[in-house]
Amino acid sequence: MIRSVFKGAGSALPRRIVSNAELAERVDTSDEWIRERTGITQRYVAGDDETTGTLATAAARAALADAGIEASAVDLIVLATATPDSTFPATATQVQAALGCNGGAAFDVAAVCSGFLYALATADSMLRTGMAKCALVIGAETFSRLLDWDDRATCVLFGDGAGAMVFAAEEVSEDGPGVIATKLHADGAHRELLYVDGGPSTTGTVGKLRMKGREVFRHAVVNLAEVLEEVLVQADVPAGAIDWIVPHQANLRILEATARKLGLPIDKVVVTVDRHANTSAASVPLAFDAAWRDGRIQRGQLVMLEAMGGGFTWGASLLRV
Ligand code: UT7
Repeated sequence: MIRSVFKGAGSALPRRIVSNAELAERVDTSDEWIRERTGITQRYVAGDDETTGTLATAAARAALADAGIEASAVDLIVLATATPDSTFPATATQVQAALGCNGGAAFDVAAVCSGFLYALATADSMLRTGMAKCALVIGAETFSRLLDWDDRATCVLFGDGAGAMVFAAEEVSEDGPGVIATKLHADGAHRELLYVDGGPSTTGTVGKLRMKGREVFRHAVVNLAEVLEEVLVQADVPAGAIDWIVPHQANLRILEATARKLGLPIDKVVVTVDRHANTSAASVPLAFDAAWRDGRIQRGQLVMLEAMGGGFTWGASLLRV
């Protein structure tokens, strides 16, 4: 069978780190509140010369170097973002130009925090059906540009960054490597719980992020448990066989609840929310790359990627590395 086989990963973070203490000087919050309620201790915030496109390009270069693949071999770039450099053209095309691999397909996917799962599912479908041979799947965000820095309920939660993974279409056996099963969902009825109050077709402005965190939290725990179960059933794999869960990093308490529901210990969950905060579509590939580079994730292991975010959208994907 043809599967999308993981070839390499990379990531990029802005230069500037903003601590909880620094935020507590701007809004009525505290390091203690942020740590206790979210697990976040710091986040990275992009400078004027750092954009979604520049971070995505740096992550893509690192992923190609890790894979040992020339940019010229890439014939598909799918980039997940809710914070593109411009309304158009797609940031993916700008990454393509920077890498110098023009000619293949390149486009953005908008599914907010689940964006990387949607991008991976799209690339995986195109690789398995022969529309592309080598794909860069990227999650990249500069959410700091969407934040209302006077709203303590949201501005402490998010950060900027980018992660990328390279996949190639390869003939493999049933128990071989590659993306094994993926499920995506959306429920547009909950827009008011998590949205941006601007856009090109409505206000003509970029807008600011608005979130009812407590309600989003409740939906996240339920939706993630359901989609993880669906993927395990589709793959015919017991939860205990998972080596690593690489979740969207919104809140340490959500990660703990998800691990509990699967009956897995928290030390099987890759946690980066403490350092990166919530980087939306970038958080899954950023976390994957962290655990890949430090040697926790190894070839042959089963890794579950999962995310939930604005829309609502949510999804999960099981991968043998
Ligand atoms: O990535 C997309 C998915 N997003 C998520 O998954 C986010 C999910 N939600 C969460 O992570 C949590 O709900 C939050 C971290 C956003 C909030 O934690 P919580 O335990 O649900 O707190 P809460 O919203 O119920 O607020 C508790 C209290 C409130 O005060 P009162 O009403 O009890 O007096 C808030 O006003 O904490 C207050 N509060 C803060 N206090 C200090 C809210 N933000 C802050 C803050 N510093 N930054």
